[in-house]
Amino acid sequence: MSILRINALQVHAVDGEHSVPLLRGVDLEIEAGETVGLAGESGSGKTLTGLSVMGLLPQPAVQLTGGELVFQGQPLTTLPVRARQQLRGASMSMVFQEPMTALNPVQRVGLQLSELYQIHRPELSRALVRRQLLQALSDVGVSDAERRLEAYPHELSGGLRQRMMIAMALALKPALLICDEPTTALDVTIQAQVLDLIRGLTREMGTAVLFITHDLGVLAELADRVAVMYGGVIVEQQPIDALFERPQHPYTEGLMRSIPRFDHAPRLRLDIIPGQVPQANESVLGCRFHPRCARATARCQLESPKMDHGVACHHPGQAVC
Ligand SMILES: Nc1ncnc2c1ncn2[C@@H]1O[C@H](COP(=O)(O)OP(=O)(O)O)[C@@H](O)[C@H]1O
Ligand SMILES: [Mg+2]
Repeated sequence: MSILRINALQVHAVDGEHSVPLLRGVDLEIEAGETVGLAGESGSGKTLTGLSVMGLLPQPAVQLTGGELVFQGQPLTTLPVRARQQLRGASMSMVFQEPMTALNPVQRVGLQLSELYQIHRPELSRALVRRQLLQALSDVGVSDAERRLEAYPHELSGGLRQRMMIAMALALKPALLICDEPTTALDVTIQAQVLDLIRGLTREMGTAVLFITHDLGVLAELADRVAVMYGGVIVEQQPIDALFERPQHPYTEGLMRSIPRFDHAPRLRLDIIPGQVPQANESVLGCRFHPRCARATARCQLESPKMDHGVACHHPGQAVC
């Protein structure tokens, strides 16, 4: 069963008369219980894709201008604001890179968590809410939960805050969890714990996950399928094993080479893709990756490639090294 279908999604930055395309037709589908990775360098449009689904784009500066979002069979873009709010936090939720952005710094954590229940489960008694909250915190491995609920966000470590956010995001057992680089700001050892936690809990609950990251390596142990984004479009989409064994798009290969490998002798130089993601307002004719691509031909400069068998490239397959 499809949980989320993103169809030809377009998002523009709008400034008076000017508008700049940021997402240029994103297509992605997530099935129930599936974990889909959304990978790509910074600036490729991953966060905007997540925010579009949540209905949290920073309007009016950034606007959804085209395409379709269908969540559990329900079209989202035509849904009234209130109905959309009802979905957020209950049926779909999002965990951000920096939990401080999602927490109110002057309010105790417990109060913020219980507000979620006030909005979505007003029928529950305070005692029952408290019991469920303590359970949710214990599920994410927060010890001494009673005391933690009395804390202000700044009194908690980064790892603990992120655990709290995950508890909050999963408290009402959403059908879809969007994780936007949830471990990027954490220490390496804590990162692994938080990833384990997300994987364990979402598998147990059967929650579908859209896991956004700039690091393909993180997805190896987490995702069933990966979509690779570049310049506001998805350029490749494969099941995780196929992607790692036979990346088709030269951009995916580049991303793959930039994963640090612990099983290899240290390299003198990390293989990284030369150049940068084009600025949104930079017009690039043809394939947006062609200025950085070793395989680019005259065709790539003229004709934008369409997605075919999971890859949008005129010369998919073998790497030219
Ligand atoms: N509020 C905004 N106003 C204008 N441009 C934006 C805004 N937010 C993001 N962008 C632009 O949209 C593009 C995609 O951004 P984003 O989705 O945050 O990328 P990612 O999460 O992959 O790093 C970038 O070029 C970024 O500069
Ligand atoms: Mg981002």
